[in-house]
Amino acid sequence: MRHFLTLKDFTKEEILEMIELGLRIKAEVKAGRFTPYLEKQVLAMIFEKSSTRTRVSFETGIFQLGGTGLFLSSRDIQLGRGEPMRDTARVISRMCDMVMIRTYSQSKLQEFADFSEVPVINGLTDEYHPVQLMADYMTMIEHGKDQNPVVAYVGDGNNMAHSWLMMASKLGFELRVATPKGYECDASIVADAAEFAKISGAVIEFTNDPNDAVAGADVVTTDTWVSMGDEEEKERRIKDFSGYTVDKEMMKLAKADAIFLHCLPAYRGLEVSEEVFESEQSVVFDEAENRLHAQKGVMVWLDTKRKEA
Ligand code: CP
Ligand code: NVA
Repeated sequence: MRHFLTLKDFTKEEILEMIELGLRIKAEVKAGRFTPYLEKQVLAMIFEKSSTRTRVSFETGIFQLGGTGLFLSSRDIQLGRGEPMRDTARVISRMCDMVMIRTYSQSKLQEFADFSEVPVINGLTDEYHPVQLMADYMTMIEHGKDQNPVVAYVGDGNNMAHSWLMMASKLGFELRVATPKGYECDASIVADAAEFAKISGAVIEFTNDPNDAVAGADVVTTDTWVSMGDEEEKERRIKDFSGYTVDKEMMKLAKADAIFLHCLPAYRGLEVSEEVFESEQSVVFDEAENRLHAQKGVMVWLDTKRKEA
């Protein structure tokens, strides 16, 4: 049985297989065919942080696959009152077929997975947001940006940056990460990416100059400067990220047909200008919709592996 906790655990072939599966199911649904790949299955969705896209895409996704989703906010379940992860995992995984969790540390997610009898999916932790990257890469494929692309990530060295590091180093494309001083990516994740890059041939570069990163890029992406859990640092971060707004001048440095991606929610005037966000180059709503399709690929793939085990 496999869990989907970080892209680190998957080969290039497995990642592409899940995305292809998601694309196939997307085409079926667009043609009006809803195949019950996960008939009568129950997906428990535990949220310790807020969400719009993750909740709606997983709940809609499992329903369209013939199953049902259970939305469990930590404010309402006993986890929020101190029941241990490991006990929560042993209870929920005896009743449900799959679990998605959005939590703080990756180690909490890992603890749940260690005690779970069913596949567990990372719906975002402080360290990673792997399902987002599955949707992002699906969007790159659909916009013709999957042949040796150069991707520029401009912003915080956070869960999104880490997930881009994993995707690039596994699939073997060029990724340039520009972060302000003091907001660099986690050193151990950078080291892991460097190891994977040796195998895949990925080129991974780090800089403190966003213009350098964006020059000639096929894909420009960013994320909020103030992630969930960082709210107390908001004022300081806004000062420290000065010069990191993806605006029209910065986009001009990228290729003329470059696309702009953002996991959303976006804060206009901070990490991205209104003009870029609303421009023709911005495909952020295709990207958001692809959460639904890409995650179906992940869920059906995990279910197949569980049945094979
Ligand atoms: N991108 C993303 O995960 O959005 P939500 O926080 O709304 O789920
Ligand atoms: N980095 C952001 C992503 C939100 C989807 C956060 O963790 O809040």
